[in-house]
Amino acid sequence: MRILDVAHEMGHEEVVVLHDQASGLRAVVAIHDTTLGPAAGGTRMRLYPTMDDAVLDALRLSRAMTYKAALAEMPTGGGKAVILGDPARDKTRQRLVAYARAVERMGGRFHTGPDMGIDARDAAVMARHTKHVSHANPQSGVDTADLTAVGVVEAIRHTALFLGTELSGLRVALQGVGQVGYRLAKRLHAAGAKLTVSDREEARAGRIADECGAEVVGHENIYDADCDVFSPNAAGAVLNSETIPRLRAKAVVGAANEQFSTPEDGDRLHARGIVWAPDYVANAGGLLSLLHERGEVDEDGIVERVRAIGPRVREILERAADDDLPPHLIADRIAHERLRAAREARRARPTT
Ligand code: PHE
Repeated sequence: MRILDVAHEMGHEEVVVLHDQASGLRAVVAIHDTTLGPAAGGTRMRLYPTMDDAVLDALRLSRAMTYKAALAEMPTGGGKAVILGDPARDKTRQRLVAYARAVERMGGRFHTGPDMGIDARDAAVMARHTKHVSHANPQSGVDTADLTAVGVVEAIRHTALFLGTELSGLRVALQGVGQVGYRLAKRLHAAGAKLTVSDREEARAGRIADECGAEVVGHENIYDADCDVFSPNAAGAVLNSETIPRLRAKAVVGAANEQFSTPEDGDRLHARGIVWAPDYVANAGGLLSLLHERGEVDEDGIVERVRAIGPRVREILERAADDDLPPHLIADRIAHERLRAAREARRARPTT
């Protein structure tokens, strides 16, 4: 199937492809669904084998943002952007500026911020050229990546409670200790968890070994780690027919978006008796940070909103257990229900 047929099938409202000759920028912005509000989602930068892979990533990630907003009760729709290139080599100021100008031309239909390969400093560069990027001011105690980590810690804590145990003393295997994974590792360590970590960049894993006494394993071996919780915090599609049989964890809870390779992987985990905290529920802290940036809640208020992710995960796990269904089906069902109710309410509202 051609890639824009996939967009049609998945129900995307709009897909924008960007090419800027002067800077060499190549990017894709996908807007999935704006029922709940203007689209919001981070901008990711990474290498993709082909343009179609980049578009597909934007399509999947933007749909996940629609579901994420629905579960987090955010007044935002689902969108996401990807910039093609290696962040370490291809991220020039000129490209970030060209990208930010393109976001500005979208006139507020898409609001963005940091994601994999794009950090708060990059967002600050973009913010000089568009209003539609969140850029935590350096004085503020609130940071998108850290709020995401806070939410994942609470998701792990409540998954542990669901399993009849507690966070302190658990062994968590972290795949990826980048922007979010690093902060997550620090917070889990402070909460008394034991850590096993891996990262494509060995120095990043080494830093957590030094700072938190973590055990380091090779990036490909993390699936085999003896642990209570497996926590993917890097690439998506890491849960698949090859990796799931290797897991030794009782639960999978992480910040990575789109953790399943195919929807059947959710059933595969369920069949193995491994509990899965839905990714888009556990990792909503970054999206929620927009509430603080927009001045709608103060610092304490935003932390409280993010911490509510824990009980929400637990409730989904309990409903899934009661119905003997995999948790992803329960979360998807809640998202669909909220979107349907919002569409109906919109239709009922008289238009002026
Ligand atoms: N990148 C974050 C995520 O994947 C969300 C985000 C949206 C962050 C908008 C900042 C601004 O959930």
